[in-house]
Amino acid sequence: MSSTGLIVDRGLEGVVVGSTLLSNVEGKIGRLTYRGYDIDDLAPNATFEEIVHLLLFGQLPTSDELDHLKREISTRRMLPEPLIDGMRRSPKTAWPMDVLRTVASGLALFSPVNRVGEHVSDAHTAIELIAKMPTILAAWDRIRRDLDPIEPRNDLSQAANFLYMRTGKMPAEIEAKALDTYLVLLADHSYNASTFSARVTASTRADIYAAVTAALATLEGDLHGGAASAAFNTLLSVGSPDRAEIYVRDALGRGERIMGMGHREYRVRDPRARHLEAKAKELSAYRGDSRWYEIARALEEASNKVLKETKPDKSIYANVDFYTAPLLADLGMPGDEFTCMFACGRIAGWSAHILEQLGDNRLIRPQATYEGPPPGPFVPIGSRPTTAH
Ligand code: COA
Repeated sequence: MSSTGLIVDRGLEGVVVGSTLLSNVEGKIGRLTYRGYDIDDLAPNATFEEIVHLLLFGQLPTSDELDHLKREISTRRMLPEPLIDGMRRSPKTAWPMDVLRTVASGLALFSPVNRVGEHVSDAHTAIELIAKMPTILAAWDRIRRDLDPIEPRNDLSQAANFLYMRTGKMPAEIEAKALDTYLVLLADHSYNASTFSARVTASTRADIYAAVTAALATLEGDLHGGAASAAFNTLLSVGSPDRAEIYVRDALGRGERIMGMGHREYRVRDPRARHLEAKAKELSAYRGDSRWYEIARALEEASNKVLKETKPDKSIYANVDFYTAPLLADLGMPGDEFTCMFACGRIAGWSAHILEQLGDNRLIRPQATYEGPPPGPFVPIGSRPTTAH
């Protein structure tokens, strides 16, 4: 409640600000659906490209539609040379999310559409952004390791091509499938912070490049997509499964949060965590090294136990970022790129939300209560008191 008696919803918790046909988060029962399809069915059975079609065009594709979409995506993966050059000239220490946000924004400069007075927010441009996002990440991954970027292939899926562009080697099927499942699971999540940010930006009739750039900026923080990278740092700090409980007790004792645990919507374990955990387990068995998976398992168990003791009235369980950490680590990715990988999946949802917003637009412009001083006379600069030094 504000001093003026108005109800203030900090964090917009429980406030409904719009509607969507795209995805539904049922936090109490732990269900996530994309246009009515349960992710429990989509994760094992659909590819990321099928999800892109579902979100952008309203239904799962026929074989012909899927072939067409795959061609559209795979022929748009190349980046404009000046953007690659810009990455080459950037400090190798630059944080991957800063690079991804900057270069993704730069794609607008090379948009084939004349931007003067034109809106380029259409499915075609959405596909362009979906296609290029992993190329930016893979290129930066190599450039910062003093390696030349590898050109995308147009005969591979988004997931397989990304892994190929990092190493120049064809990934094993199990690796490509694990990443594909990850992208499927990350594709959309209703009005989460970054998607809302994209919709706010689109609602001003800014174009899709601007709205996606806003979403990328919002994703970065560790209360949102940044938690994936932070969760990996936690695995590193824990070091071995037997240290998990002591780590959790120490961290909570210092008032810290366990990254990858807790969610604004879910009161039970995030439904995506089960699929990601299964993929992380499969991958670790394939690699013959289950270190990250075992630490994550122990950490989840310890967090559940200690949080139940210390915050018995809260429902804090593993979220999507928790098992992202062992999964992406076992795909050979460095922890500071995990948030960028999140963006490579969520770009599908962001684009669909931006187009949905523009399809029935109303400027999003909330209010705030004013808590400052009451109106008073203006004091000219010569009459203001001098600052004591
Ligand atoms: N570890 C420890 N305590 C946690 C926690 C976590 N991961 N997540 C929430 N809590 C606690 C808070 O400290 C708070 O306790 P208090 O009431 O005793 O102060 C309580 O649970 C409610 O937290 P609050 O921040 O109000 O809930 P929220 O709805 O805003 O939280 C998150 C949602 C995601 C921001 C929160 O769970 C979090 O910070 N998680 C860690 C970061 C993360 O994984 N983010 C990715 C989300 S997909």
